Amino acid sequence: MAFNSWPLSIVLLSCVLSISLGRKMTAQTSTRVKAVNLGGWLVTEGWIKPSLFDGIPNKDFLDGTGLRFKSVTTGKYLSAEKGGGSIIVANRTSASSWETFKLWRISETTFNFRVYGKQFVGIDVKGHGKDVVAVASAPGVSETFDIIRKPDDSSRVRIKAPNGFFLQAKTEELVTADYAGSNSGWGDDDPSVFVITISGTLQGEFQVTNGYGPKLAPQVMREHWSTFIVEEDFDFISKNGLNAVRIPVGWWISSDPNPPPPYVGGSLQALDNAFLWSQKYGLKVIIDLHAAPGSQNGWEHSASRDGSQEWGQTDANIQQTVDVIEFLTARYAKSPSLYAVELINEPLSPGASLHNMTTFYKAGYAAVRKHSSTAFVVFSNRLGPMKPTEFFPIASGLMRVVIDVHYYNLFVSAFDNLTVQQNIDFIHTNRTQDLNTVTISNGPLTFVGEWVAEWNVKDATKEDYQRFAKAQLEVWGRATFGWAYWTLRNVNNHWSLEWMIKNGYIKLT
Ligand SMILES: *[C@@H]1O[C@H](CO)[C@@H](O)[C@H](O)[C@H]1NC(C)=O
Ligand SMILES: *[C@@H]1O[C@H](CO)[C@@H](O)[C@H](O)[C@H]1NC(C)=O
Ligand SMILES: *[C@@H]1O[C@H](CO)[C@@H](O)[C@H](O)[C@H]1NC(C)=O
Ligand SMILES: *[C@@H]1O[C@H](CO)[C@@H](O)[C@H](O)[C@H]1NC(C)=O
Repeated sequence: MAFNSWPLSIVLLSCVLSISLGRKMTAQTSTRVKAVNLGGWLVTEGWIKPSLFDGIPNKDFLDGTGLRFKSVTTGKYLSAEKGGGSIIVANRTSASSWETFKLWRISETTFNFRVYGKQFVGIDVKGHGKDVVAVASAPGVSETFDIIRKPDDSSRVRIKAPNGFFLQAKTEELVTADYAGSNSGWGDDDPSVFVITISGTLQGEFQVTNGYGPKLAPQVMREHWSTFIVEEDFDFISKNGLNAVRIPVGWWISSDPNPPPPYVGGSLQALDNAFLWSQKYGLKVIIDLHAAPGSQNGWEHSASRDGSQEWGQTDANIQQTVDVIEFLTARYAKSPSLYAVELINEPLSPGASLHNMTTFYKAGYAAVRKHSSTAFVVFSNRLGPMKPTEFFPIASGLMRVVIDVHYYNLFVSAFDNLTVQQNIDFIHTNRTQDLNTVTISNGPLTFVGEWVAEWNVKDATKEDYQRFAKAQLEVWGRATFGWAYWTLRNVNNHWSLEWMIKNGYIKLT
């Protein structure tokens, strides 16, 4: 279904609105974007709305959860010897990467375990049929285990192998799947009992949809999409000094209504609504491909299954991403609200190589231009080690290209102990300089596509926050394309622009 094949009533409504809003829209085309991100809506981020995960059974065993297993008999941790490609041992006194097993969830109780080297733990069927190894590059029946938790102490588990036996730490150097005892006393003398610790979790779209599973996920996600962001939000945004929304979407949206599992259909309908409401309230839309196939950075917000970053490693996967961009542009090219298409969010170097990014940005730009000569094309700078002007050579021959930089006073230790004033000085001095570096005449326009009035300062007052926000608005106001706050709504107050506006921390009008 294309944008222009919507029901007639909607098309007529759109026409009336575009006529009545015509003057306002024209006036705005020369204005810089003052936008808010609609984060956590069409691409799940658990920290933005934790309650979305509440109904998942066994919800601390989601995809990507890192488990560590300490044998109660050896007192030591299970480890994938050499990080993978070899046997499993139980002889490590402390746990780090080789001792972390990432879950792939098959059902509430059934899992695959992925090790550091990306192999899956399994039973060596060619050997004795009971040796435990980490050699398979893809999980099959031999790599599928049940985790049984002790009823009154969920930190104690036993692991049932596909051969019907339990894993046991026979000795520190011998882990086998041949323990028959079906009734465990769960005591410290049982070699099939392990104490688990969780080293890390992900709460993204893969985790929420696969966690609920095919029966519940469609209903839960549709409920979320239709309640988390609603028409009134667009009214609020338009009345509070903002003129645009940046909308993160995931690659699976282009195969709506039947995306590959575990993703569920319906996010495209929500995006259609966002375009209608944007038109009604005179807002521009920046579509932002936040989650690319395979994950471009390994974080939950790019829908990574287990923390792996696999985007861009094959031509097929780059082409698939270009196809998503083309699909989205074609669908909304006729909407007067389509303002910009951001080809990919926060690709992480060195995994997303400059070579692959160059290939992708050229092809993505061409895909947008096939359907729109006016939409801005946004290149997100890479995170990680990179030059902030590395994409300028590609951008130089192209029309209406924008560079997106994300400026947070967070996430790196340099910000850990700064005072209020040091944080503000950093914005005025260092960020001004950063922005100047990427703002050059005849270069791409510049966009601070994510920022927030949050920091590591403890016990900051409301006035401190107001000054911090004001400093950022002043500096980001010089970005030639504009800026976008992260995000509209969030259980963490300072990350919610709605809360910040309603409580007088930020004033834009
Ligand atoms: C653990 O056992 C393996 C297999 O015998 C051995 O190669 C490795 O050196 C041992 N590691 C430690 C820390 O004892
Ligand atoms: C992506 O980058 C890697 C490493 O730079 C390279 O080996 C691979 O061929 C690239 N793939 C594509 C499709 O350009
Ligand atoms: C911040 O302060 C803490 C406590 O004084 C200290 O341990 C830490 O190293 C400091 N971090 C940086 C980046 O200076
Ligand atoms: C910010 O800029 C100042 C002045 O150029 C410099 O001394 C300081 O190290 C910079 N701060 C950080 C955290 O990079």
